[in-house]
Amino acid sequence: MSHNSFGHLFRLTTWGESHGPAIGCVIDGCPPGIGLTTEDIQKYLEKRKPGQSKYTTQRQEKDLVKILSGVFEDEETDGQVTTGTPISLMIENMDQRSKDYGDIKDSFRPGHADFTYDHKYGVRDYRGGGRSSARETAMRVAGGAVARKVLPDVTIRGALVQVGPHKINRDNWDWDETGNNPFFCPDKQAAALWADYLDGIRKGGSSIGAVIEVVAENVPASLGAPVYGKLDQDIASAMMSINAVKGVEIGAGFDSAALTGEENADQIRMGQDGKPVFLSNKAGGILGGISTGQPVTCRFVVKPTSSILTPRQSIDAKGNEIDVMTKGRHDPCVGIRAVPVGEAMMALVLADHYLRHRAQMG
Ligand SMILES: Cc1cc2nc3c(=O)[nH]c(=O)nc-3n(C[C@H](O)[C@H](O)[C@H](O)COP(=O)(O)O)c2cc1C
Repeated sequence: MSHNSFGHLFRLTTWGESHGPAIGCVIDGCPPGIGLTTEDIQKYLEKRKPGQSKYTTQRQEKDLVKILSGVFEDEETDGQVTTGTPISLMIENMDQRSKDYGDIKDSFRPGHADFTYDHKYGVRDYRGGGRSSARETAMRVAGGAVARKVLPDVTIRGALVQVGPHKINRDNWDWDETGNNPFFCPDKQAAALWADYLDGIRKGGSSIGAVIEVVAENVPASLGAPVYGKLDQDIASAMMSINAVKGVEIGAGFDSAALTGEENADQIRMGQDGKPVFLSNKAGGILGGISTGQPVTCRFVVKPTSSILTPRQSIDAKGNEIDVMTKGRHDPCVGIRAVPVGEAMMALVLADHYLRHRAQMG
């Protein structure tokens, strides 16, 4: 299986399967001299790790990260810093329960990657979805934590803004609220409604889709390279590479279809500090593929988890028509744990573009 690497100058390669002994990543291109400890990475993994509430999979993984290479002691700070060599990170898988997946060994879950993996490679680690499992996204979060250290002044935050048909009220948006409920929801009232709604979905053995919003603030102007290295292009690609993602928007996104030119164009004035001020941000902080200095905003949609308890029509590896019902532990709404993953992908893209900009422009 090729294409397990992402990025150009800041490059993340992930490895490992859901039920193998461990998962890991190698980060190539991280500049030297950046303070980096396991705590810097662990705090983001804590946000993504499974089993934290009844609304996510009950697989119990501590997701304790080990830094295997790429750092050394720093005499100046008495801490440790990156050395500019490949940073290798690893997490051991602790709570594999492969027997749960015996039933799908030779059958294809509708909506999952079983059919395509089998058809393409002819051999498949079916346990927990193998390489197609979102277990891989833990290493994106770990890589994203290192990327954030390359961009110390940039703030990257994500939130769940829609679960099923229930959208947040954007007037209630409070970033602090995202830490007060199990959904990373910025609207307290919506979070209360989602709790009941998701309880019903979960108890029924069903699943539901969701929309995640990621905002990066204090992004320097000028990141991104036309015409095939546009910042928005790379963000879209990064978000689309997350498991279960079926759509990505930048700025006003699909809503801009209903706007007039007057409504959509972000007007510009000069601020008192002599810097340009944009009067709105429909562009999501990117014009012509290059960052404007405004917040970079993006949204992505995740489909409902395909592993559900209701039998669905499918086929097995021999072509027999069968009914598939997926036992095992699953996220009733993958959108919740996709929030820290989206933040990480944003960090990885921005760090890569930051280094690419520096490489070309000095
Ligand atoms: C954070 C996260 C958790 C996920 N958990 C599950 C899960 O428990 N069960 C499942 O069937 N799919 C889960 N998925 C989705 C599958 O990994 C994904 O649907 C599958 O790999 C097929 O890829 P595709 O949906 O992108 O086509 C999860 C996705 C994310 C982002």
